[in-house]
Amino acid sequence: RVLKWTWRLTYLSVLGGLAYVGWAVYEDRHPEAQIEPDPTKKTLVILGTGWGSVSLLKKLDTENYNVIVISPRNYFLFTPLLPSCTTGLIEHRSIMEPIRSILRQKKAAVKFYEAECTSIDPERKVVKISDNSDIRADVLETEVPYDMLVVGVGAENSTFGIPGVKEHSCFLKEIGDAQNIRKRIMDCVETATFKDQTPDEIDRLLHMVVVGGGPTGVEFAGELQDFFEEDIKKLIPEISHRFKVTLIEALPNVLPSFSKHLIEYTESTFKEEKIDIKTKTMVKRVTDKTVEAEFTGPDGKKETVVLPYGLLVWATGNAVRGVVRDLMAKIPAQKDSRRGLAVNEYLVVQGTRDIWAVGDCAVAGYAPTAQVASQEGNFLARLFNNMAKTEQLEQHVRDLSASLNLHPGNSAEICRQIEESERQLRRIKDIKPFHYSHQGSLAYIGSEKAVADISWFNGNLASGGSLTFLFWRSAYLSMCFSTRNRLLVINDWLKSKLFGRDVSRE
Ligand code: FAD
Ligand code: NAI
Repeated sequence: RVLKWTWRLTYLSVLGGLAYVGWAVYEDRHPEAQIEPDPTKKTLVILGTGWGSVSLLKKLDTENYNVIVISPRNYFLFTPLLPSCTTGLIEHRSIMEPIRSILRQKKAAVKFYEAECTSIDPERKVVKISDNSDIRADVLETEVPYDMLVVGVGAENSTFGIPGVKEHSCFLKEIGDAQNIRKRIMDCVETATFKDQTPDEIDRLLHMVVVGGGPTGVEFAGELQDFFEEDIKKLIPEISHRFKVTLIEALPNVLPSFSKHLIEYTESTFKEEKIDIKTKTMVKRVTDKTVEAEFTGPDGKKETVVLPYGLLVWATGNAVRGVVRDLMAKIPAQKDSRRGLAVNEYLVVQGTRDIWAVGDCAVAGYAPTAQVASQEGNFLARLFNNMAKTEQLEQHVRDLSASLNLHPGNSAEICRQIEESERQLRRIKDIKPFHYSHQGSLAYIGSEKAVADISWFNGNLASGGSLTFLFWRSAYLSMCFSTRNRLLVINDWLKSKLFGRDVSRE
């Protein structure tokens, strides 16, 4: 009897799941007709199509504003699965969502310009934008006026001005970076197996160096070692004893933002996976074939190490974008800010009235993560929806008050309506400041293991291993932008498990 009910429930859940997917696909393909943008309404310009801006767009009632989105990227990128794209475990298009599909789901139409904002003029309230498309030989430049501006342009890769980094390293921030790395890995492998290569050259080509032991560096190193163990080693056994991954970190340990127990777990897992971790080692110079670093020994003595490499991935965190630096220089209240636009508790850029900032380009006292950026975007959507509602209600109260003299016979009813509107106004005007709620940190560390620092009631739950890996996968799958993304990612995981990663070099 129990078995019979278990079967029935499983059958119903599968049916329910399929119905949900079907419904989501139908909704996506058959959006309602959109309301045309209303130029008489306030113009809200949103810069960027990353975590902060897209979370704002998702929840924003676009019929309240004349919304314009500007970004050099016409898609949203699900960065948590970007390290998996470097080895082909996940195909890059599976974690991209076209901004046009996102905007098509909105009630009122939103304008999108694929362009880069090159400067912001807070005095004249305009942003200068340029289109660097290859389709035209010249660069198109124009200005877009705004009433309200949201800056969500993220950050760029930090290099600390270390010589050679920009010229010789691969970064891991954008989809193009992941594609570059994927090509470069296979280029190194194929060149290493070329006829008559010297042993030193083979060792150099097959030495993959990752600089930066933050979550980006750790996740990439884990994915790379998996790629080697699960695919390259089987396809090209003759190089199996020479492929090597080294992770260099300036601090005494990797993953400094995770709890001590998880740091130790990660380091011991890397040891088992044969990933060489060099801590207390700071890279000082990079050439086309070597990395020069300074190692600080336990006695404080410094020693220079030179490591030949085939692939170098630079993952040392964020730096402020030029357009943001330029805006900061124009606002006196920003003169002490170094890491981005200082914002108040409503995410208003300090020293301005109508510019807000979200995500990695804003300094609100939180880590530069997708989690923070998306909560900030959601908060701004609520704030802007409330602001529009407030303005509508205030106008309604003004109209009702004016009609009191015109219709004295109806005064009791009009007064009741005024009271009701004022009650609503008080309720929605009471917007609490932004408060970040940390759900936890997750990172993949290779060999189908992950580490997780999860906020649990008022405490913290730290776990690492294979079960955490399953949790990591399901958490990120559920966070993927759309049903389409989810199906594509599941398909990629299954495909790689069954047939291995695709090692052809595009
Ligand atoms: P972004 O998402 O970087 O978006 C910036 C947007 O601005 C882009 O659309 C860009 O094209 C656009 N833009 C850039 N310049 C201009 C310009 N001049 N004008 C107009 N638009 C412009 N965080 C987590 O919480 N969990 C994770 O697992 C995680 N994994 C990560 C893995 C990797 C490999 C990386 C690199 C980061 C990861 N992060 C993770 C961090 C997270 O991706 C960032 O904190 C998040 O993307 C910040 O969101 P954002 O909106 O500020 O910027
Ligand atoms: P990071 O700033 O977290 O780490 C960079 C590391 O590079 C630091 O530990 C630093 O000590 C080291 N470093 C700097 N200069 C160096 C040098 N010259 N030589 C050697 N080491 C050097 O940067 P990361 O990993 O790119 O992360 C950026 C942000 O994105 C962080 O807030 C992070 O939490 C978030 N993120 C989160 C992920 C997750 O939750 N799974 C995954 C990836 C990023």
